[in-house]
Amino acid sequence: MYFDTHAHLDDQQFREDQPAVLERARTAGVELILNAASDLASSKKTLELTRKYDFVYGAVGIHPHEAKEFQEQDLAQLGELAKQPRIVAIGEIGLDYHYDFSPRETQGRVFREMIRLAQKLRLPIVIHDREAHEDTWRIVQEEKAAEIGGVFHCYSGSWPWAQEIIKQGFYIALGGPVTFKNARKVVEVAQKVPLDVLLLETDCPYLAPVPYRGKRNEPAFLPKVAETIAAIKGISVEEVAAATTANAKKLFSI
Ligand code: NI
Repeated sequence: MYFDTHAHLDDQQFREDQPAVLERARTAGVELILNAASDLASSKKTLELTRKYDFVYGAVGIHPHEAKEFQEQDLAQLGELAKQPRIVAIGEIGLDYHYDFSPRETQGRVFREMIRLAQKLRLPIVIHDREAHEDTWRIVQEEKAAEIGGVFHCYSGSWPWAQEIIKQGFYIALGGPVTFKNARKVVEVAQKVPLDVLLLETDCPYLAPVPYRGKRNEPAFLPKVAETIAAIKGISVEEVAAATTANAKKLFSI
């Protein structure tokens, strides 16, 4: 049994066939899914998904890409959404200096707001950190985010950084990129990361694993990620599935 800890099932790309996508997920053994929101509208859609499917859980929050649209009055609404049953985290939140779709200063301010909301509600956070390791880590420290814990989703940093992250009690989530040919850094992380702090994710519809690379990703492809990690670690895929599912249930109190 697998737990896809990061999906965007509310994405446009699933509009036509969302029920079939979820059906295929179950058939592939993906029995639990966390849908990660990116703004207020997608947080509402995430809540709808959790009400429609009893194996879908949700994270609500503001993605760094959307930080520039965030207004103070949205915070109360997000807080209400976050209190609903099966909303188990604040996410995805963080910094993205690769695309810089929002000014960096705004990204930082909204990231801090989201961490504070999570602290108020005692929920873990789902962190997006792309080419912004130093600032992400500084904000995590300054806001004392380790008190609530969380996961560095689609971890793309080095192994030394991962060690720091793990030391403070955070989880590392790996997805499709671990299957890519040029994924030296991520493969090293997959090899060395202890099994008890590892989560699996698709980040669908993005980052489909090999042999689906370049296509629309979906939760049913998650076993490909697990198989690759199992091969890298030299353990069975069952072991990877069992450990990562147990870790995610623990983190999200499921
Ligand atoms: Ni995402």
